[in-house]
Amino acid sequence: MSTTSDFIHHYEPATDATRPPLLLLHGTGGDETDLLPVGRIVAPGAALLSPRGQVLERGMPRFFRRLAEGVFDEADLRARTDDLAAFIRDAQQRHGLAPLVAVGFSNGANIAAALLLRHPGLLRGAALLRAMVPFADAPAGPLKGTPVLLLSGLMDPIVPAENSRALATQLQGAGASVTHRDLPAGHGLSQQDLSLVRDWVAAL
Ligand code: MLT
Repeated sequence: MSTTSDFIHHYEPATDATRPPLLLLHGTGGDETDLLPVGRIVAPGAALLSPRGQVLERGMPRFFRRLAEGVFDEADLRARTDDLAAFIRDAQQRHGLAPLVAVGFSNGANIAAALLLRHPGLLRGAALLRAMVPFADAPAGPLKGTPVLLLSGLMDPIVPAENSRALATQLQGAGASVTHRDLPAGHGLSQQDLSLVRDWVAAL
């Protein structure tokens, strides 16, 4: 499998050094610009690091391959997760960043969950918006209390409720400190997602 840890990305330096830097991970069909407005709302003044997924599915960028909707190519996911971890470590050094807080949506939330499980200690925390279980057999932490906010949509046609509950259980089992909320929403983000992420980031 040939992938590279050099991602096309957008980097925005902090204007408020008290804010933790954010790692923004877009959904299928998005790019490095998609979540910049979300980052600016949930953590005004924070440094923003926003890579573009390296896989193309019918022209749509993603962070890893899937075999069908919700069915992941786990070997590809493992390799892409490791590449993204290497990119994050490089970017942290290059820009002198503290550990990042991931804010991931959909496919981006799924690779953020994979980063937590495969690279415990890399992220300061993660807000997972409409995430699913990334690995059938998850590596078991140790996440040592890493804060995770998992926001699911009660009317989400892509992520079944039992799947997001299983992810919460998996992350808790690996030692993360998980807050899981079911919102009256579908797969798309709502205003409530933004306020909850903003409050959660402010409390980190
Ligand atoms: C995925 O493939 O990561 C999930 O099905 C979410 C999506 O991107 O549609």
